Amino acid sequence: MAIREIRKDGDEILSKKCREVEVIDDKVKELAQDMLETMYKNDGIGLAACQVGILKRIVVYDVAYIQEDGKREGHILINPKIISRSKSMIEVEEGCLSFPDVYDNVIRHEKVTVEYTDLDGKKRKINAKDIEAVCLQHEIDHLDGIVFLDRVAEQK
Ligand code: NI
Repeated sequence: MAIREIRKDGDEILSKKCREVEVIDDKVKELAQDMLETMYKNDGIGLAACQVGILKRIVVYDVAYIQEDGKREGHILINPKIISRSKSMIEVEEGCLSFPDVYDNVIRHEKVTVEYTDLDGKKRKINAKDIEAVCLQHEIDHLDGIVFLDRVAEQK
């Protein structure tokens, strides 16, 4: 495993669209594990592949880590897709490992259902709410080249 370099504000890769993962090979598995390690190392709760310079639809996240005193519960999502969104919205202050020391409020859906493929190639679903739902919306936005400050700008 290796810690990867996080692409920062101003890097044009952050505004590019990531491509679907067609085959879950060793390279994809290694990348996903590296992403998790990179996220933990930088005290993040989520990371998208484009943030480490790879335009693939892969997201990792762990919201238990900040809530439950360092207990790790890392998730790896290949080709995640939001398939349903609640009408109810919540406003939460967000940050991003690509924008160090920048925080702002973003309005997002309170609940989302996300469909994805796991590392074994199985289709899975997550019903997320609150911080987990916010995190997933933030990370899946990254896969479409959208950063949280774009959301802030459109909501002002
Ligand atoms: Ni981010």
